[in-house]
Parts: sequence; C-alpha cells; structure tokens
Amino acid sequence: MKHVTNSFERIPTEVYKNSLEAITSIAKVIVDLIRERQSNGKNVVLGLATGSTPVPLYKELIRYHSEEDLSFHNVITFNLDEYYGLSKEHPESYHRFMQDQLFDHVDIPDDQIHIPNGMSQKQTVFQDCKDYEDAIVEAGGIDIQILGIGRTGHIGFNEPGSTINSRTRRVTLDSLTIKDAARDFLGEMNVPKYAITMGIGTIMDARKVFLMAWGQSKAEVVKKAVEEELSDTIPASFLQQHDNVTFILDNAAASELTYLKFPWLAGFPEWTPELVCKAVSNLSLLTGKPILKLIDKDYLENGLSDLVTELGPSYQLNIRIFNEIQHTITGWPGGKPNVDDSHRPERAEPALKRVLVLSPEPLEDVSAMGGTLSRLVSQGHDVSVIYMTSGNLAVPDIEARWTLNLLGQLKVEPVNSFIEDANAFLIEKCEFDEDIQALRELKALIRRNEALASLEICGIGKGKVKFLHLPFYEKGRYRRFNITQEDLSLLAPEIKKIQPHQIFVTGYKSEPSSVEGKAFSVFEKAIESLLDESWMKDCWVWLYRGGDNEWNISEIDMAVPCSPDELSRKNHAVYQHRSQRSQTPNIEQNHLEAWGQAMVRNRKTAKLYDELGLAEYESIECFARWQPGQAK
Ligand code: F6R
Repeated sequence: MKHVTNSFERIPTEVYKNSLEAITSIAKVIVDLIRERQSNGKNVVLGLATGSTPVPLYKELIRYHSEEDLSFHNVITFNLDEYYGLSKEHPESYHRFMQDQLFDHVDIPDDQIHIPNGMSQKQTVFQDCKDYEDAIVEAGGIDIQILGIGRTGHIGFNEPGSTINSRTRRVTLDSLTIKDAARDFLGEMNVPKYAITMGIGTIMDARKVFLMAWGQSKAEVVKKAVEEELSDTIPASFLQQHDNVTFILDNAAASELTYLKFPWLAGFPEWTPELVCKAVSNLSLLTGKPILKLIDKDYLENGLSDLVTELGPSYQLNIRIFNEIQHTITGWPGGKPNVDDSHRPERAEPALKRVLVLSPEPLEDVSAMGGTLSRLVSQGHDVSVIYMTSGNLAVPDIEARWTLNLLGQLKVEPVNSFIEDANAFLIEKCEFDEDIQALRELKALIRRNEALASLEICGIGKGKVKFLHLPFYEKGRYRRFNITQEDLSLLAPEIKKIQPHQIFVTGYKSEPSSVEGKAFSVFEKAIESLLDESWMKDCWVWLYRGGDNEWNISEIDMAVPCSPDELSRKNHAVYQHRSQRSQTPNIEQNHLEAWGQAMVRNRKTAKLYDELGLAEYESIECFARWQPGQAK
C-alpha cells in the first residue's frame, strides 16, 4: 500500500495491489467503529453505495459477521440512491441489490435500513426526499460514507452539473451512466432515465468518506477528481473540500495519477527500462518531434534533465529507445522461423506453434486481435479459440425473436419444446424478467453462430473452437458473478489438452467484477494450477486489451501491423457479430459500433508509432507479455 499526498493531489489517496487488499483497510475502520460504539451502547450510521465497486467490501463485512462474531445490531444504514420507477422487487433495484449483497447476510434490524423509495409518487417525491434528509439528521448524521465513482465523475447519482449544496432529490441520469448500466438492464432502452439520490451536500455532511475505485476504466475520472481543479463537471471533485476523505484505489484505477504515470514529475524516480521508454516516447509526443529528433534542450525543458544527464546524451538515448520500440514491431506474431530472434518479440522455435486464444465472450477476440489471428493462421500455426462464456446475457430479445420467427417459418418438425418454451416466454416477457433457460440457450446459440462465422473469415474452422460456458456467467447476472472451483475445473483441463506455446488472453486490470475481469481471474488460477506441467515452461502468455483501451507505448511488447486489406478483413469478421450491433442504426455513429471502434483504435496506434518516427502502417494491434503472478 502506498499512502500518498503530493503536490499534484488535492485528495488523499491510498493505492493497493488489488481491490481485495484495498477493502480490508476500510472494513477494519468500519468494524472497529461498530465495536467501539457497541461497547458504549451507541449506534453507527453508515452511508452505503451499490454498484460493483463495494461488493468485495460487503463480502468482507459479511465475513466479519459469520466468522468473527461481529453483530451489526447497532448499525443504521442510509443508501445513496435508487432508480426512480423501480419497485423493491425488481432484480436491478438497489433495494434488491442491498438485500442480496449485504442485508440478507448480517443482522441489521429492518427498521434501521433506509433506501430511497424508487416508487415514490411524483406528487410526494419532494417531501419523501426531505424526510430522507431528516431521518439522516435524526439518526445523528452519517459516520462513514462509502462511495463508488461513475465514469461521468458522479457520486451517488449526482451527475455533472450538480451543485455542492444539492440535497436528496429526483435526478435525470447522464447518457454515459445509462450506457454503463445498459448491460445490467439488457439494453439501453430498459435503463430508467431517473433516480433519487442523496445530494452532494448530503454526502459532504458525512464525518468520514471513503471513495473506492477499481480497474482501468475508472483511471481517467479518478485523476480528474483528485488532481484537477474542483468543478461541477466532475462532481466527485467536490470532495476536495471535505476534510476527512480518502480515495481507496487499486493500481489500475490509480494509473493515470501523475506520480504513477509521469513519476519523474513527482520526484526522483527509479529509471527502470519501462519508465525510460515511457519518458522518451511521452516527450516525443509532447514536443511533436520524432524520437530521433529530440535534443538535450527538449529533455531539460520538460522535467527530464536527470534522465538525460544519467543516460544521455540525448542522441544515444533516443537511438536506444527508438530501437527498443522498433523491435516490438513484427509481422510474425508466432515468431519468424529460421532467423535470429534475439531482437524479436517472439521466439523463432518451434517454427509452428500451438496457439490458444482465450476470449471472455465471443467478439472480444476478433475485435482486439482479428488481424493477428488471421496472420497466425496464414503463417501455419495451429490456432485454437476458447470462448470462456456464452455471452447470452448480451443478446437483445429482438435478435432472439428474429431467430424464433425464422425457425417458425421454416416449420422445423417436430417443433421442439425448446423453441416452444422460448417463444411462449418471449410473448409473456415483461421488460425486466430474467430469461428462462431455453431463451438463454437460444441466445447462446446466436452468439455461437456469429463467432463461428467471424472466425471462419480469419481462417479458423469449427473444429478449433470451443465454447466453455463457464458457470460463473451462466449462474450470474452482470456485476454479480461468483467464481467457484467449478470454473477452474473446466478451464484448466482445456488448456492442458492443447499444451499451447502461446496463449492470448484479456481482462488483466479490467474492472474486477466485469466479465473480462472475472474471466481473467479464472485464467490466472487455472495457470497457477498448471505451473508444474513441463510444457508450461515453453508457454508464453500475451495479453490483449478489449474495447477502445490500448496499451501505453512503454507497455507494448509486441506490435503487429495490419495492411489495409487485413484491416478490412478484420472489420468483416467483427461485423459478423450481428447481435452486438446497436439496435438503432445511425450512419454517423459507425465509430461506436464494434468494427468502427476496433478500426479507430488500431489506426490510432499506427499513427502513434508514425508520430514517434517509426514506420507508418495502416493499423497496428498490440500485446504485452505476462508472466504468471507478475504485475505489469
Ligand atoms: C451507486 C452509486 C453510483 C456508483 C457508480 C459506480 O449507489 O451511487 O455512484 O457508485 O456508478 O458504479 P460501479 O461501482 O458499478 O462502477
């Protein structure tokens, strides 16, 4: 753990290796307070949050209750918010979430639990919100407030534009917040547009505040809240004015903080090879000069005088880093046979490798590494793909209806009960009902067929593709996935069967409760269990990243360029994932579709290499090498 307060940070932060380590310190503060108050016959008032972030904290509190005999009888809780228009019973209501994640497992008396009423009538909602505020005051005010942070910078549902004096009220959700919740609600159109939330002023009144954030996707907004000037465009930045607040972060969520991203600006860093590469490439982009044209003055004027003094002169340093980056580029992702490989990212031998690509759901593989997949196949490697989950939760009903109609029109005889059940359920289905098994299976089949069509374009046939359907996904809902031994016992034997020389996998540093995050942690455990296998010594693991999230230049160990033709083949492969296209097509928004996103990202990387003074390619896909147990 690092406790940091430096000249860049306006809010104290604590940074931990992962969310599990991070929450132990908060849990301890809460538990100590509960015990201390119990010994004085007093209550503790907790302000609670929902979402994926606090889940590990609630698990730890439940552990204290079940294993360490901690009673919560003196705890009074106030939740931050609730979707407006959702009943307590709705599977996505925060009432239901809190019951499942905490209240059903500890002994807080029911009348000490408070959550805003999502079904409050329009005529009474103002008074209900006021009553909520009064109840907090009556309970003695909040002792400890737990917060997550949304990508808009919201705390509670206080979206950009909220004021520091705002109190509990009905609010409209930001479009990005709606987008982020779309998966939970099986589509953007199902996400409520309004919510009731405590105000910023209500939160500021708490005596102590912990804001938690995990995963790369929160890094940008955390940096803004912690380091930029207080502004209502990032509501969490109002916490800069709180005198007892700490941001509890994992490494990934902290990664944009200046002292971690540009450590040379925050003191005297240890100049590791990766940091030197980061500093030089960053200087090149900052000054708009190719690496080989940087001069001493550029280093001196941009806070890098000790680097150029220690490792310079600039000319030599430039060449060294230029070569290092140059050596990451290869058109041979499986290694180039019969050449000296001492400066290549992959080994030459064995010339033909067994390659395993692991994808958390169908689509992530081709969208991040479709070009590389095609190359590996065309260069003769034996490529297998394993989809770790079925991806059925991400198929909109409209796609399932389309398929069922088609089957109906074909009059498949005998009409099997599977189709009948799915059809009957869809006719009756209310907006938020959980799918029955038959419909989930149908949706899984839709994704399976899309994946097969997509891989065929990359040259990979059906026989090389496996759909694992890991139980954590099949038995869970978004943000509520639980890994068990069953998941490991399915994945490890599949890897062992293939005995790969190369594994491509994603999810490293992803938000830990996301499908990719969970899938990576199953992979990590599976690999741990295989470490003693002799073939493992010859197995290299390459990490790819999903979405529009590329590695930083200094993190990249292998960069695979794609020609214009290869890029359009990749687009074609991504395009096969029909159920994942947006439901309301908009020609202006192609960059938001999976194929558009992949193309923009790969071209952007190519442009970056070009700006650094390396060769100019059409597009580039990137990978980082990973050793089991290694933090990168
Ligand atoms: C939840 C809440 C929100 C979440 C935020 C982050 O009660 O108030 O502000 O904390 O949207 O959500 P997750 O944790 O799901 O990333």
